[in-house]
Amino acid sequence: MKKLRVLLVGAAFSSDLHSDGYSRILDKVQIVGICDKDLNRVAALAQRYGFTGYTPYDDYAAAIEQCDCDLVDICMPNFLHHDVAVKALNAGRDIICEKPLATTVEDAQDMVDTADRLGRHIYYAEDWLFAPAFRRALEILNSGKVGRPLYIRARECHSGSHSPFAQSIKYCGGGCMVHLGVHPVSFMLALKENRWSELTAMTSGGSGSNLVHRQMEGEDWAGAFLRFADGTYATLEANYVTVGGMEDVLDIYCEEGCIHVDLSFSGPVRVFSLPGLDYTVEKAEITTGWSTPAVDEKYSLGYCGEINHFVDSALAGRDAQVGLRGRDGLETLKVINLIYRSAREGVSVKNDRLEG
Ligand SMILES: NC(=O)c1ccc[n+]([C@@H]2O[C@H](COP(=O)([O-])OP(=O)(O)OC[C@H]3O[C@@H](n4cnc5c(N)ncnc54)[C@H](O)[C@@H]3O)[C@@H](O)[C@H]2O)c1
Repeated sequence: MKKLRVLLVGAAFSSDLHSDGYSRILDKVQIVGICDKDLNRVAALAQRYGFTGYTPYDDYAAAIEQCDCDLVDICMPNFLHHDVAVKALNAGRDIICEKPLATTVEDAQDMVDTADRLGRHIYYAEDWLFAPAFRRALEILNSGKVGRPLYIRARECHSGSHSPFAQSIKYCGGGCMVHLGVHPVSFMLALKENRWSELTAMTSGGSGSNLVHRQMEGEDWAGAFLRFADGTYATLEANYVTVGGMEDVLDIYCEEGCIHVDLSFSGPVRVFSLPGLDYTVEKAEITTGWSTPAVDEKYSLGYCGEINHFVDSALAGRDAQVGLRGRDGLETLKVINLIYRSAREGVSVKNDRLEG
């Protein structure tokens, strides 16, 4: 069977998440190149996941030009997504792009237009859509056994990004809403096939007005209310003021039932440790006392399923499912920018592009 040849660009945090996924499907994928300006990270990543026979690169333009690959996987800081993507698409490669698609709607639109013009695919990496517990919730919802959904509440929150680029809007495109809220926003848009009708939002405003992170230009708290064309309401929330570990929570209220999912803290393992464990859950500051250590965290958060779906889609030469296409990443970014506009101007925004 032909294997998909992947060039990984970026060899740190998100690249580690994707690599875990690749390492489980080496029967259909081959990592042929890994690029990072820090070559020690390239070697460490390859060793951690047992990748062999790849070429290391420290310059992404050279890597895209020289590496004989089918797909470029972009795990780089947000402000570089556009440049890496356009170079890779122009070199005839499909791409996987981490969230958000770009730092501006203009750049994201250019990426989508470039891919369309060249007949290439953008696979937009939204892991929430592959988290097994969220998929089970959607399966129950779609079974009709809880009735029609009326109201959905979703949030991703933790205590702050590890990335130095997250401090400046120029490098990342915003604050916690663009970093974390991007997941619940994409999830809801995928569920409703992008048919949102109205939104209104509030944020902590960034810098000096933030609740905790006053050095950060973007906001550290944000909440948005959305209404969808079918009448469903949603509250979507993101913040950097949540200590104790990352929260990924989904509540679905329906006519004949409700569904509650807590991805991070509802595992079957409970531990009490006086010295503390090596690791419990993402972003947990301490590991002493009682904890609920994650079981196969990267799988539970959806990264493995997401990578598997992209590899299958690229091998078959087809688009990803709704929510994971370049145009879905673009729509998410548009909505997030309107959330920022609503919060800034204190207005409710209607979707004038909604048809039918
Ligand atoms: N889906 C998720 O849950 C999730 C989680 C974390 C990050 N992300 C996304 O992944 C992307 C990367 O974030 P991260 O946390 O992995 O960042 P990171 O800072 O951990 O890693 C970025 C890597 O890019 C390398 N790099 C930077 N500039 C470079 C250049 N010009 N040439 C070559 N290498 C360069 C750095 O050396 C670093 O190793 C971001 O878009 C972020 O939003 C997604």
